[in-house]
Amino acid sequence: MTASGTRPAASGTSAANARQFPPGFLWGAATASYQIEGAAAEDGRTPSIWDTFSHTPGKVFGGHTGDVAADHYHRFRDDVRLMADLGLGAYRFSVSWSRVQPTGRGPAVERGLDFYRALTDELLAHGIEPFATLYHWDLPQDLEDAGGWPARDTADRFGEYARIVGDALGDRVQMWTTLNEPWCSAFLGYGSGVHAPGRTDPVAALRAAHHLNLAHGRAAEALRSVLPARAQLSVTLNLHHVRARSESPADLDAARRVDAVGNRVFTGPLLDGAYPRDLVADTRRLTDWSFVRDGDLAAIGRHPLDGLGLNYYTPTLVSAGAAPDGPRNDGHGAGGHSPWPGADDVTFHQPPGERTAMGWSVDPTGLYDLLARVSRERPGLPLLITENGAAYEDAVGPDGTVDDPERIAYLHGHLDAVLKAISNGADVRGYFLWSLMDNFEWAHGYGKRFGAVYVDYDTQMRIPKSSAHWYAGVVRAGRLPAPPTTA
Ligand code: FCB
Repeated sequence: MTASGTRPAASGTSAANARQFPPGFLWGAATASYQIEGAAAEDGRTPSIWDTFSHTPGKVFGGHTGDVAADHYHRFRDDVRLMADLGLGAYRFSVSWSRVQPTGRGPAVERGLDFYRALTDELLAHGIEPFATLYHWDLPQDLEDAGGWPARDTADRFGEYARIVGDALGDRVQMWTTLNEPWCSAFLGYGSGVHAPGRTDPVAALRAAHHLNLAHGRAAEALRSVLPARAQLSVTLNLHHVRARSESPADLDAARRVDAVGNRVFTGPLLDGAYPRDLVADTRRLTDWSFVRDGDLAAIGRHPLDGLGLNYYTPTLVSAGAAPDGPRNDGHGAGGHSPWPGADDVTFHQPPGERTAMGWSVDPTGLYDLLARVSRERPGLPLLITENGAAYEDAVGPDGTVDDPERIAYLHGHLDAVLKAISNGADVRGYFLWSLMDNFEWAHGYGKRFGAVYVDYDTQMRIPKSSAHWYAGVVRAGRLPAPPTTA
């Protein structure tokens, strides 16, 4: 591609001659244990909160469960070959706590660990760097029965589990993430109840958030004690890119509240050593935060992060005032249970323009702005995009292929935003597409497809979509091609 032969990107954010990603930029794809593995009752695995939730009528679209999912537990060798065919340099997966420590306490099940040993060996044999996430939402049900994340003991149990996994995989995994999107675990799991375990108690959600932060600290401590010094520790947050609908003081305050309980509830203790004062004030009516004990903040921040993982899909648009009745796009559960304690008097708006099959607006400028903000506020902290992608109504055509031009356009726009952020100084080290393949999309079951690879759930056949071929080309060249032309 020559500079003269290129046109500006669709989003208009990148100069034609700045399409090359930096040398060493990591190209990957991401998945999560409960969403793809299946084999729910094999080799000693016992139920997690997502097994219980998905088997509870009315909780998941179509009554779908992760019992079989994409059967990755049995097909991982074929799946790694697929990744190699796509030229991926890295693969982000999560470990199922219930598979390696079924009750969430006590000795490990070696057969469970063997699966992850075999998976990581297979990745390394194909030159693919394994990125292990310890927790992507599948808490052992026994720990939920003992109180779940609102209970302090769960953080200590997580530290023990981290040590087990670190011991088992530390010789082959260098890149470690403690938690994936603790906001969802705490506020969708215990606030709005749209995710497992489906509780609807704002104070439980705030307690859960703190114990997730503490769990990160406990895990970092355990991992640092068992891993070689070269190991890298991170956490992945779904920082919301919050925009106020107007510059009015009331709307700006609504955005501040959502930023506090959506973002700074994690970045505060993890990166600044304190909970934000405004968050504590916003939620004072609910709790005095006495669940934060002396020494907790020091424990959370003791081991500095080697990098921060960011998951981005869509921006968040808010204004002041209670929402009118009607469909909501802010994670509210049935009965109006809010995942935003301390930000009740806020309306979440659907931004105008194009949307994905999730109803999420397509807006790469949100990713650019988010990267710019985090880079400005956290100089020196390397960033990774650990998830980005989109669901569309994919279908197999008469010729057996799956053509998904909208996904290519989505990925193009967002990679263009990453390039622009990098050229303006953001230290972004890699990009993981969500997701490698179609999978169990939580409360949406198999009704939403996020994969670059199509999964036929009847036969478990994998079909790389046109976006997979397109992404493989980007990975191979380390360069973003001209924007796709839409017919
Ligand atoms: C993120 C989750 C991931 C997937 C995508 C669409 O919030 O981390 O598991 O469901 O959304």
